Order: sequence, then structure tokens, then C-alpha cells
Amino acid sequence: MQHKNGNSRSRRSWAEPYKIKMVEPIKLTTREQREKAIAAAGYNTFLLRSDDVYIDLLTDSGTNAMSDNQWAGMLLGDESYAGSRNFDHLQDAITKYYGYKHTIPTHQGRGAEHILSMLTIRDGDSIPGNMYFTTTRMHQELAGGHFVDVIIDEAHTPSSQHPFKGNIDLDKLQSVIDEVGVVHIPYLCMHATVNMAGGQPISMANMRAASKLCHDQNIPVYLDATRAVENAYFIKTREEGFENTSIADILKEMCSYSDGCTMSGKKDCLVNIGGFLALNDDELADRARNECVIYEGLHTYGGMAGRDMEAMARGIEESVSYDHLHARIGQVVYLGEQLLAAGVPIVEPIGGHGVFVDARRFLPHLTQEQFPAQALAAALYVDSGVRGMERGAVSAGRDPDTGENRKSRLELVRLTLPRRVYTQAHMDVTAESVIDLFEKRDRIRGLAFSYEPDHLRFFRARFNPIGGKQILDDSPFSTQSKSLSDTAKI
Ligand code: F0G
Repeated sequence: MQHKNGNSRSRRSWAEPYKIKMVEPIKLTTREQREKAIAAAGYNTFLLRSDDVYIDLLTDSGTNAMSDNQWAGMLLGDESYAGSRNFDHLQDAITKYYGYKHTIPTHQGRGAEHILSMLTIRDGDSIPGNMYFTTTRMHQELAGGHFVDVIIDEAHTPSSQHPFKGNIDLDKLQSVIDEVGVVHIPYLCMHATVNMAGGQPISMANMRAASKLCHDQNIPVYLDATRAVENAYFIKTREEGFENTSIADILKEMCSYSDGCTMSGKKDCLVNIGGFLALNDDELADRARNECVIYEGLHTYGGMAGRDMEAMARGIEESVSYDHLHARIGQVVYLGEQLLAAGVPIVEPIGGHGVFVDARRFLPHLTQEQFPAQALAAALYVDSGVRGMERGAVSAGRDPDTGENRKSRLELVRLTLPRRVYTQAHMDVTAESVIDLFEKRDRIRGLAFSYEPDHLRFFRARFNPIGGKQILDDSPFSTQSKSLSDTAKI
């Protein structure tokens, strides 16, 4: 019998399918040290020094622990400028597990997004997709296009229990096509899983239907396959008819509904750096290789060392193991269920790569203009040294045409789990801190910008607490003003 999150309802405990061979010490800090560190970082967890962080749940990107098999592969790096044998291994693994014909290696995911956007998007084009991702949309905009969200409405409601909140709303998709015309749609951008919605999966049935809808009208489909393996696990455990299909076969079928993919290898591929663009079309692949040579490196390394490509080839093989995914996503569920049991509002169902705390419901005394998710991430760091990330109004940024802040319906703090890095005990410590904070949530202040960068502002923005010196006060303060004019009083 399957649990709703895919774990079998067995009375026995389960454990990670590996043992630890090397350890990296982490530092415990005092509250006073953390208050200083977060102030110096402008209340932006991206600007903290990692030495000042106790449990780092900022991202699952490039933070994976590699296996002994991958490290062994690192010593077999063929560091030739051209024609490295490790590239052949990588290309073989991609064709075997993802099924695409051509591989263009890139330094990381956004390198692949850059090349795909430059080659396919013309000025004024619209790119429909199941929710934006920050770097993906940025490259689409830089190429002259604009992103149109066609994800189902449930994705914007943290409490909705829909099992596939990453699904594409086919009516919304057809409406965009009717509105702007097929010639102005370079491709459908299909994410699996959907990061900004909380690591929510897309179902196989939906991928198949969206792909048919597009292909019938000669619109290509490109998959953001960054966490497609995790998506495959959700299909296996939630979608009827896939219980007995292997992760590898599910992944291959998912990819078969697209004409290629962009990939940040720093997630599912279990490495610390690297990515690729995979394509089926010979001519487009040829043009992509030309761009790769200009922006990334020769088309047989694309910004990666030979050893990096070897580690990725081996990581891809390891990533499709059911036991690996069961423990990886099981750990996310373990953390999420502790928070749910304590009444902490999180995105449900619990996603694939992290637990997303709903800062709107956590901090109802703050307006969205006071950046509740940014404030909560800063307060969590002060409380325990756990580092999470804002995924809300700050990440959404400004509309490039109007300059207005984009409205973000989701206002989340992402507690992202690196793969194979932390133990369940780290999850217990994290849960305790979030639950403690929830009990004293009225002591968390809102934030206002003190510096706002032009692009991808969440990475480098700086803030000040509104109406007091500390982000987290020792005693409750009286009601915070909800007016925007307060921002000016800092
Ligand atoms: N697509 C998705 C869905 C991502 O989550 C990311 C990165 C990228 C593309 C870009 O890949 O970083 O290798 O250039 N996400 C990271 C994160 C940054 O923390 O979620 P990249």
C-alpha cells in the first residue's frame, strides 16, 4: 500500500541506502553571531558566508554529495581540449536514460537556456510554460520573448492537495496559441518538476496531452529536465498504471513527449557543476554547437572539465535508482510531515526537492510589500543557523515593460534538501527551529529594500527590517503597520 507521498505504509523504519565515508564539519554559532551575520548580509540569505551557516538548505543545486563511484570517475578525467572520452560517456548516458539524440554540454543549466533561447525566440514571441523559473524566464526575455504562465490554477494555492500541481492547463495553453498565433510561439516550456510551485510534479497523461496539442500545431516542446527524475518518482508512486514501471522507463517516456531538454546537472544528475542542452533535431543541434563554441566552450566540453562530465555520466546512472529516490524524497517528506503535524503552513502535497513554507499564512501580520518570505528566511537563520531561500515577491522581480513589481501569488520560504548530504537528525533540528519560530511568529519584522539590483534581484538584494533594529525580537511588538508608507520611515 502506498502512502500519499509515495512511501509504503510499513511499520518498519527505513534508512538511507548508503553509508558515510567522509565527513565535513559544520559550525555551530551563537544567536549574537548570527544576528551580526544576517545584518551584514542585508537580510538576504544568499549573501551569508557559508561558514556562518549550520544547516544549509538554501538550494539543492550543486550541493549534492557524490558517491565513491563518481569520485573514482573524477580520477579518470580525460582533460583533452577536444574529443574527451568523458564526453562520449556523458552523451551515451543521456541518450540511454533521457533518450535524446544530440548532447550539447554547458557549464550549467542557464548556459543551455541561453543557447536554446537565442536560437528559437524572436522579438515579440510568447513562450507558454508551467510556471516560470527565474533564469529560464530571464533568458527568454533577453532573447526578446515573454513568458506566459499556463499552469493549472491549483499550483497557486499552497493548500490544494492536487497530486500533479505541475500540470499544464490545456485550455490556457490553447488560448495563448489562439491569441498570439502559432508563428509567435517558438516552443512550449515544460518543467518537470515545477520548482517555483514547490517541487510539484506534472503527470504523464498531462505531458502526453500537452505535447500532442503542440505537435499537432507544429509547436516544439522543450522540457526543463532539471528534476525530471524526481518527477518520474512521483509518476511511479501517484499515477495509475505506472506502479510497476521502472524509473528509467518512466523518464524515457516523459522525455519522448519533447523535442529536447535543458538541464541543470547540478540537481538530479548528482554532481556539483555542469549541464546540457539535448536535442533531437540535427540542424538545430548543429546551430547549438556553434553557439556553444562561442559562449560555453568547445562542443565536446561546454565549460565542464573531463572529470566533471565523467561524474555526471555516472551520476545519471545512479539517479534513476528507485532506492535513491525513495530515500531522497522520503527525507523531504520526513521534514514536511513534522511541520504539518505542528500546524505550520506549508505547500501541500510535499514536493520533491524541498519543503516550501507558506510565509503568507505564517506571517499574516505582514503585507506582501514587506516581503514576508524574505523576512522569515532571515528570522530562521537568526533562530538556528538554518539557511533557506525566499521564493516569492522578491524572486518574482519587476515586469521589464512596466517596471512594476510582479504580483506573486506564492510567497514561500524554500527549505531545499541537498541530495545525500544531511541526516534525519538535521531534519529534526530544522523542524524544531521552524516550529519554535511559528510559536513566536508575531516577533518577526517585515523588510524593505536598501539595494535592489536590476536583474534577478533576489540573488544580491539588500534589506533593512521595518520599524526596529532586529528581524526577530525577543519580546512581541505591538501590531506592525501594514501601510507601505511605513517603508519610507526606516
Ligand atoms: N531550471 C530549473 C527548474 C532550476 O531549478 C534551475 C536552477 C535552473 C533551471 C538553472 O540551472 O542553476 O544550473 O543554471 N535552480 C537553482 C535553484 C538555482 O536553487 O533552484 P543552473
